[in-house]
Amino acid sequence: MGANLTFPEVDLPGDRTFILTGGNGGIGYETAKYIAAHGGRVVLACRSEEKAKAAIEEMQKEYKDEKQKTSPTAANAGASNGPDDLNIEFMKLDLESLASTMEFIDAYKAKGYPLHSLICNAGIAYAPYGETTDGYERMFQINYLSHLLIILHLTPLLRASAPNSRIVMVSSVAHTHGAFDLDNIQGKRSYNRIYFYNHSKLYQVMSMYALDRRLKSSGIGVFSLHPGVVETGILVNNWTDSKVMVPVVHGFMRLFHVYRNPYQGAATTLVAALDPKYDGESALYFDSCKPTPPVSLAKNVENQEALWKYSLECLKDYINEDVLQGVEGEVKSEPDANLPSEGENLKSKQDVKDEATHDTDTGEGRDECEKEEVTQNTDAEEGRDGCEEENEEVVQQSEDDIIEDNQIITEVHATDTDDVKEEGRDISQSDSEDRQDGGRSTDAADNAGGEN
Ligand SMILES: NC(=O)c1ccc[n+]([C@@H]2O[C@H](COP(=O)([O-])OP(=O)(O)OC[C@H]3O[C@@H](n4cnc5c(N)ncnc54)[C@H](OP(=O)(O)O)[C@@H]3O)[C@@H](O)[C@H]2O)c1
Repeated sequence: MGANLTFPEVDLPGDRTFILTGGNGGIGYETAKYIAAHGGRVVLACRSEEKAKAAIEEMQKEYKDEKQKTSPTAANAGASNGPDDLNIEFMKLDLESLASTMEFIDAYKAKGYPLHSLICNAGIAYAPYGETTDGYERMFQINYLSHLLIILHLTPLLRASAPNSRIVMVSSVAHTHGAFDLDNIQGKRSYNRIYFYNHSKLYQVMSMYALDRRLKSSGIGVFSLHPGVVETGILVNNWTDSKVMVPVVHGFMRLFHVYRNPYQGAATTLVAALDPKYDGESALYFDSCKPTPPVSLAKNVENQEALWKYSLECLKDYINEDVLQGVEGEVKSEPDANLPSEGENLKSKQDVKDEATHDTDTGEGRDECEKEEVTQNTDAEEGRDGCEEENEEVVQQSEDDIIEDNQIITEVHATDTDDVKEEGRDISQSDSEDRQDGGRSTDAADNAGGEN
């Protein structure tokens, strides 16, 4: 599946600085290595210091070996005339915790580095229902919300490096099966691990547009992308509860040559982050290294703004008017009465930690949007049980290679009809509302699939 991939040929100045989340393995590993081999400085923001440092060591070793080769392959392009050593350093970031994310933001600012590109790559997929320490559904927070917190705080640094600084969201073609339903955004009413991955990837594309509106004249390009179906751990990491999942998925993907390897998987991210062809551009979704239209639901401005407002509410303990002012630009409307006013301090880290401990015990301290959902949550436990049952049965079959835009999209169908029906109801309902809004054309209830 490596056809039509391009790798941007660039010569980066040594102070051109990239933050890449989750680069200790998979697509992020190859992305970080390529950028550093072409001269850039990469901050690898990962949750495990041990894994990240081992990955950096391995990158250095591979790079040195490649540099010695007389005829570089595509995989080591840049290495023959690149720097002596890769400029990559680890910084701690656990996206599952807003407090940890805030610590990363503060630590990054304290370094005094510029920031030219923020690559939001880290993610998990197909996780059984679980909540973060902040009380949010895990894929919502790890894949989307915590990245937004980083964006909000580091936009001033990106502005200072403009023009041609970039925000890159590693989304997925799975976003085309996502739905936007604020009433069940945390999965309290019903939950399906495939759908909620799809939803989290849709939020990334929706937020690309919301950010672009706000950053119009900033010189910051905001991009999102699908890297392809790539052989990394993400497909199976969270299916450890199913004995059939790993062999079935890997077997199918390998048999039909669906997988890209991680280096090929990095190509589209690299185009979005580096390719000078897209200087001055913004709000583009890439697939196989080319701008491609995302699902129309992602373009619904009303939904984008509703998601934006909800997200700020979720983050309100970690942002204030100063932070928002740095992002909102021309779009800024009324000050948000719920946010601390300009100059007012955010919560101290200790406050946040104390409250997190307290919240775990009492369930108190969530914001209003969360509380509303808790009151609606009459059957959350049933939803979770249903999901656990589904884990045993789901993805018994991987079928229907759909040819869309000259690429194979692999449908992995859920077979637990109860969960599918339950979730399908929610989705088809919001889907029909979106259609009335001129929203997306995909009928999610009929396409109950997921692509990673
Ligand atoms: N592989 C595919 O086919 C595919 C297709 C479409 C989209 N994508 C997207 O591509 C991106 C990269 O995925 P991948 O395939 O390279 O998967 P991967 O190898 O599993 O890499 C995911 C990275 O995210 C990190 N991560 C997970 N939870 C984190 C947290 N709480 N805080 C900080 N980092 C965390 C992981 O760290 P640990 O090693 O510590 O877990 C890992 O470094 C994801 O956003 C994924 O949704 C992948």
